[in-house]
Amino acid sequence: MAEPIEIGLTFDDVLLVPQRSAVSTRRQADTRTRLCRGIELAIPVVSASMDTVTEAAMASVIAREGGIGIIHRFLPIADHVAEVRRVKRAESVVIETPYTVGPEATIRHAAAFMEEHGSAGILVIDRDRRLLGIVTARDVLFEEELDRPITAAMTPRARLITAPAGTPIEQAKEILHRHRIEKLPLVDAEGRLVGLVTSRDIRSRLRYPDATKDEKGRLRVGAAIGVRGDFLERAEALVNEEVDVLVIDIAHGHSDLAFATVEAVRARCPDVPLIAGNVATAEGTRDLIACGVDGVKVGVGPGSTCTTRVVTGAGVPQLTAILNCGEAAAEAGVPIIADGGIRGSGDLVKALAAGAETAMLGNLLAGTEESPGASVTRNGRQYKVYRGMASLWTSAERRDMPHEDELLSEIVPEGIEAMVPHRGGAAAVLTQLVGGLRSGMSYCGATTLAELRANARFIRVTDAGVREGMPHDVDPLS
Ligand code: XMP
Repeated sequence: MAEPIEIGLTFDDVLLVPQRSAVSTRRQADTRTRLCRGIELAIPVVSASMDTVTEAAMASVIAREGGIGIIHRFLPIADHVAEVRRVKRAESVVIETPYTVGPEATIRHAAAFMEEHGSAGILVIDRDRRLLGIVTARDVLFEEELDRPITAAMTPRARLITAPAGTPIEQAKEILHRHRIEKLPLVDAEGRLVGLVTSRDIRSRLRYPDATKDEKGRLRVGAAIGVRGDFLERAEALVNEEVDVLVIDIAHGHSDLAFATVEAVRARCPDVPLIAGNVATAEGTRDLIACGVDGVKVGVGPGSTCTTRVVTGAGVPQLTAILNCGEAAAEAGVPIIADGGIRGSGDLVKALAAGAETAMLGNLLAGTEESPGASVTRNGRQYKVYRGMASLWTSAERRDMPHEDELLSEIVPEGIEAMVPHRGGAAAVLTQLVGGLRSGMSYCGATTLAELRANARFIRVTDAGVREGMPHDVDPLS
């Protein structure tokens, strides 16, 4: 041990010193940021790639609010791709390839298809893609003769309102309104289906002006991949489904295995933005950036379900990790994501002030309606299951192991299974978080997140300071 031991700090060890501010209302604070090179967000929030946090429902709501979700990787490739597809199809200006069936399909098949894809309607086309009709979920709801052809249940072409290819969106909106319809198929001069405009998409565009969208007006979504097994095949399948970003997930991102993975994925999928992590040092950040990643995920052991630090003795307190990694990444113009340990808006502001351009949230979102975790009732209160991705049972399921003691004993978990209180909808959680962030920016005299990073002055606090900062000497009402 030649060098003196550095001190590592985390969120509770510091506060941001209030500074003169010209910001008069919270609304003046602009929270736009970058997830990675090439992807901008209206709010600096990323939902964690964990199987009790992010699938299509979570990714869709987070993207509508201006952040982005990363679909976890602990499901078969076909299902992983289907989750991405659900988000990409959740809304768009014009759906270029609407769901279709042929006239020979049965009502049973069409109903199952709509159910599986979460779609409220399906178009019937012939072999030359000529539009024959439309079927909605309502048309088949009480149908008893499910083996009849779909043509028996559809609204036929003659009674359908359609519009020509290339109809401007304002005009499509007017037609939908005039005819009080939900779906407007677009057809070319030969009557072939070329797209679909839905009133739901138009409503959503007006309602969520800050949504994170791609150039075709579809919600953006990311997906995680691992470093072993089918990761390359998975990466390719996700990119074919037009996933917006891939996140290489490895507990120790400063490793030869991580670099080899980045290079292999880059070679197979040269154009997709690539994020890798996790690291907790400037060297780790620089080495990943040298491999060509577009974003770096930072955090070794700060997560609420992590036991990495207890089990391995390794890690860096998260604020110090963000400061060090952020400085190294800024030299290269690459954003970092602060991953783990964010318990509320105060931690979010500190993470962003320390150098992160976004924060990945697990715990705060795991208790929301949109998370895939199971609901549990305990003592009359509602909770949702939230589990670390390196916890015992998660690791066991992943290895496809029978749950026998001798095999389970080979697993060295670095996470725990837990539950978190039910928190309602994710959008409401984000409203509180982003509201707190805006206030925090104004205390630092910042109207943008770049100014927040530049202006930030941290002060270290003692345990007495932490206690003073909590409600004290009162009996809370709830
Ligand atoms: P929060 O604090 O939001 O953190 O719950 C979410 C992040 O925790 C990481 N994670 C783990 N880390 N063992 C770990 O050491 C685990 O089992 C585990 N599961 C998740 C991950 O980075 C996530 O985004």
